[in-house]
Amino acid sequence: MEWTTNKVRATFLGYFKDHGHAVVDSAPIVIKDDPTLMFTNAGMNQFKSIFVGNEDAVQKRIADTQKCLRVSGKHNDLEEVGRDHYHHTMFEMLGNWSFGDYFKKEAIALAWDLLINVYGIDADRVYVTIFGGDDDLGLGLDEEARDLWKQHIDEERILPFGRKDNFWEMGETGPCGPCSEIHVDLRSEDERGKVDARSLVNQDDPSVIEIWNLVFMQFNRLENGDLKTLKEKHIDTGMGLERLVRVLQGVDSNYEIDLFRALIASISKQTGVAYKGTAELPDVAFRVIADHIRAIAFCIADGQLPSNNGAGYVVRRVLRRAIRYGFSQLNMKKPFIYAIAGTLVDEMGAEFSELTRGKELIQKVIKEEESTFLSTLEKGLDRLSTLFDSENGQVVEGPVAFELYDTFGFPIDLTNLIAAEKGWKVDMEGFNKELLKQKERSRNAGKTSFGDWTVLHEGPNSYFLDMTICDLLR
Ligand code: SER
Repeated sequence: MEWTTNKVRATFLGYFKDHGHAVVDSAPIVIKDDPTLMFTNAGMNQFKSIFVGNEDAVQKRIADTQKCLRVSGKHNDLEEVGRDHYHHTMFEMLGNWSFGDYFKKEAIALAWDLLINVYGIDADRVYVTIFGGDDDLGLGLDEEARDLWKQHIDEERILPFGRKDNFWEMGETGPCGPCSEIHVDLRSEDERGKVDARSLVNQDDPSVIEIWNLVFMQFNRLENGDLKTLKEKHIDTGMGLERLVRVLQGVDSNYEIDLFRALIASISKQTGVAYKGTAELPDVAFRVIADHIRAIAFCIADGQLPSNNGAGYVVRRVLRRAIRYGFSQLNMKKPFIYAIAGTLVDEMGAEFSELTRGKELIQKVIKEEESTFLSTLEKGLDRLSTLFDSENGQVVEGPVAFELYDTFGFPIDLTNLIAAEKGWKVDMEGFNKELLKQKERSRNAGKTSFGDWTVLHEGPNSYFLDMTICDLLR
């Protein structure tokens, strides 16, 4: 295979090194010193104070691959990962930065050269978006970006979009600016003949996807909502590695790239179940586990163990989701996910030495969590069998289904499945009522909510947004 994940990453870093960039390490995926942010979710997080002018850049040009985690939120929920073929909890964001050095012209030229001349992406399949302007922001169309792109690509494939898609903001406050995204049309020739890709850009089509976001940092969003022009102009780019590899390997799913194939093969080996790549169960379980093992292993390697609150609870919740899928869909009643972590270290340990160093700890922690949670699940199963034996009701009442969900960690789907096997039904209305009551309790218990990060712009790297305390209490 020509473009392995490791080669694609190395090529990106090598390219920017050859163009005067210092290649730096990824910042940790877990953030310990920022009360507003639990996990790194964009490559630029670690450079925030340079952008806003509070810190001088030692190097004017930087490149790296950043471990990012985006969990929970209003647009994409953790519960969705695995159901489709392109969302992830943890992902790698390849990025290059210019701190007051080059700006739009060079950023666009470098991105185009790398994608087309180095990676060999078919230029005919590429579309770019530019900021179309916004009255409220008092900003017009980004004509400069349009004119610069015209030097590389036909004008008809340069598409203006509004603030939601093409004005990137770090959060409610902080560095921001217009952006320009690069999209690739991966559809078959036949499909391309039928529908113009221009109508599919930014429409959530799984085959017309954004791969790279070039942000032209020019402003700082202040507490009062005003945009203050920065003293210097900066470049912040972010490209989803898994998506880029999918493009270069010509596969239909992120989960078919070499890295995920290896993880999925390892899951098959452990469970004895074959992966078919369909949208259905049990294939979803393979994708859930292959995705989640990365998030969990990297968090543990960076010092965040599973626990009952804050970032630790997020790690626990993600791991439990993987265990549940293994338990209910792959019939795994004993720990096995820890073994998949071994494959992950084989695949990614050369680039991320923290995985190699932490291998023993990662596997030990995961195995312990698996044992504990599996026994909880077993207890829940016992609770259900007692119910089936002792009552003739044929209906699992709402409060019981809720107790299984809340105390035993049983997803409602699992309760439904087990009940159906016995010819019973679940009182879903009653369950939903209990769920609502609990949400109210959580809301009243903690009126404060703290953000995982509010990404106002959705891009290839915008997976999960805005974690509230209610999510953490679930
Ligand atoms: N900050 C931008 C993003 O997260 C580009 O790196 O998409």
